[in-house]
Amino acid sequence: MSTTPTDEAPQGVLADLDSQGTTSFYWYLAVLSCIGGFLFGYDTAVIGSVLDFIPYHLSNFWTGYLVAGASLGAAVGALAAGPLTDKFGRKSLLIVDAAIYAVGALLSAVAPNAWVLIFARTLIGLAVGADSAIATAYIAEFAPKARRGALMIMQQWMITVGILVSYIAALVVFKVAPGAATGADWRIILGLGAVPAVIALALRTRMPESPRWLMLNERYADTAEAFDKLGMRVTEDQVRETAAQLKETERKLARKSLWTPGVKRALFVVGMFFVFQQITGINIPFYYGPQLLGTYFQSGKSAVDAAVAGVEAASILGVVNVIATYFAFRFIDQVGRRKLAIGGYIGMAIFILVASWGVANLTGLPRVWVVMIGFSFFISSFAIGVGGTGWLIQGEVFPTAVRGRAAATCASVDWLANFVIVQWFPTLNSHFGLAKVMVLFAVLAVLAIAFVWKFLPETKGVALEEVNAVFEKQAVRSPVSGSG
Ligand code: BGC
Repeated sequence: MSTTPTDEAPQGVLADLDSQGTTSFYWYLAVLSCIGGFLFGYDTAVIGSVLDFIPYHLSNFWTGYLVAGASLGAAVGALAAGPLTDKFGRKSLLIVDAAIYAVGALLSAVAPNAWVLIFARTLIGLAVGADSAIATAYIAEFAPKARRGALMIMQQWMITVGILVSYIAALVVFKVAPGAATGADWRIILGLGAVPAVIALALRTRMPESPRWLMLNERYADTAEAFDKLGMRVTEDQVRETAAQLKETERKLARKSLWTPGVKRALFVVGMFFVFQQITGINIPFYYGPQLLGTYFQSGKSAVDAAVAGVEAASILGVVNVIATYFAFRFIDQVGRRKLAIGGYIGMAIFILVASWGVANLTGLPRVWVVMIGFSFFISSFAIGVGGTGWLIQGEVFPTAVRGRAAATCASVDWLANFVIVQWFPTLNSHFGLAKVMVLFAVLAVLAIAFVWKFLPETKGVALEEVNAVFEKQAVRSPVSGSG
């Protein structure tokens, strides 16, 4: 993909923003917008560690809902956040979101009965979805283009740290007070999610609103103020001039409707990328890992011992996930989205087959080793090429006027796919056995490679306003044309 400036290339203050150095404030802002990503990881993974100790008598349906309900809630939360963020801004939604996370975590901790807990988990699900819809869009709208990928990969990194911290929190609490597993322990573990949420709530009130969103909404004085926070002194007149150009670019693309053929194509590409991100099985080791691996690792006999053994094994995978994501961060702007994604899916296909072979053919310690090694490289491949790339393209491929709604629709697809696979896995597992289900994941990863090869264009180093034009051109050429 060439990066020669096109008609859509931003001028004026946006061009200056694009060539800014990425100061520590930019990194701080990226981390702040991704605290929701941390909680996304924490809250989706934590339930697996505490589920067996929640002392309420719940039917299978409601027990399932405690785990998978967060994913369904997230699909709804993402859809709701889209139009709201396009109307009220990115910052306002990120603040509301942190508040919902905090209330959800506190309510889970003090829940007097199962229904309050179910309500609290639903709230958390909504927050996870809303946050996953907005966070990368917010970053895309202030990030200088040469480092946009790295800044946006923060979301994935924070998700992985959140998953890992949830395991560590569970291990520490269960080890310190094993006798209180069904008493205070699970409440503390769920309630800890309130700490980052409250911090985010306090700090997000002082973050700048997205300059691109402000411009599009004709709030020129506020835009100049936002630029000031981003380290650029600009006058209101300069903002007005660039805003006119930005609006013209978006108007040209969207003569009849904002949902142009290029936007629709981008929706298709990101939506499918997310479907593959989920159906290739990444969350099986994360959500079911403590149970699946606990049986291989179990050292003691009590329920708490089994839980601790499973969480310990899952923590190893959590550490691998965090470390591997560093390589995504390091290479996303150099190697690019396409090559990383293709490499990621190739690795996933190979290493899930290795784990599958171990499950089918080995026993005892050799099985533990082969499965853990297979899972570790499977997760690393995902972390380097697939996880962050999905959330990144979701934030960068749409024009500003529809970015909130379009990114939110894609996030919702991701959560629906997540729900389907997490819900179906136990059935698939008991019908075909783990080894065969893993082979199925490998086949799906091969299909994902073909999909990325054919449909995902390279967008590294391309200015934000030019990215959608890449999809417009593809859509004009042919709905099934190659990647360009
Ligand atoms: C996915 C999550 C997954 C996580 C693992 C994210 O990109 O969307 O479903 O749990 O990566 O690191």
